[in-house]
Amino acid sequence: MLELTKVNAFHGLNHVLRDVSMRVNQGEIVSLLGRNGAGKTTTIETIAGLIKPSAGSIRMGEHLLSTMHSFAICKSGVGWVPQGRRLFPELTVNDNIRLAVLKMPSTERASGLQKAYDMFPVLAQRMTTLASNLSGGEQQMLAISRAVIGEPRLVLMDEPSEGLSPAMVAELAVVIKSVAAQGVAVLLAEQNIHMALAIASRHYILDKGQVCYSTQTDELNRRPDVLLNFLGVSTKSFVPVS
Ligand SMILES: Nc1ncnc2c1ncn2[C@@H]1O[C@H](COP(=O)(O)OP(=O)(O)O)[C@@H](O)[C@H]1O
Ligand SMILES: [Mg+2]
Repeated sequence: MLELTKVNAFHGLNHVLRDVSMRVNQGEIVSLLGRNGAGKTTTIETIAGLIKPSAGSIRMGEHLLSTMHSFAICKSGVGWVPQGRRLFPELTVNDNIRLAVLKMPSTERASGLQKAYDMFPVLAQRMTTLASNLSGGEQQMLAISRAVIGEPRLVLMDEPSEGLSPAMVAELAVVIKSVAAQGVAVLLAEQNIHMALAIASRHYILDKGQVCYSTQTDELNRRPDVLLNFLGVSTKSFVPVS
């Protein structure tokens, strides 16, 4: 479904991603772990076409994303939930969703809007509320609804649990699983290892822009040394996400 092969990317002169290879299959949730500054956001922005890889390829099905512009990437079925949500704070919930619906053909917009509200009933109750007045969890739901509205084949989520309470993180986990259950591939950049272990089946750990470890959930659960070495987290502090 999504396949990165030896992707390299720069921020200006800063060589950030080095030979990053990874894949995400249809309906699969794969996590991208790593400390602050490891290159998670850069990976996601490179897939989304905001940064052009200097070498390597990014493919999604028949589309060679690494040669496409970000708008075309979005239209080809890639949804993006940016870090920090990036909503339109001074617009209502309904207007935020309506702007996302604009990328759909005009005949499908009304049903797209309705589907967003069916999927996120909490947003239907807050239609006329300004995005800036939503709780953190509601804002994240709005950001996700905007990303999934065009029925993407792949959704990129950049630290969706950031700043949310444990109860909201558990709710978010349910939403992300339901997105994947519809056959969507999900690449989830997270610092919240509990969340990643609870919902993702496979994991790539980035360190200084390189994939230093890739593994499956059962193995990662048995490797506290990996978590400690690459992520600096101790399993003693683990709180399960149901
Ligand atoms: N706009 C930028 N200009 C220059 N360097 C950047 C920029 N954004 C990020 N970087 C650098 O790229 C590296 C990876 O950052 P990022 O992808 O944001 O990591 P993460 O999302 O894992 O915290 C860091 O060393 C960071 O300092
Ligand atoms: Mg980041």
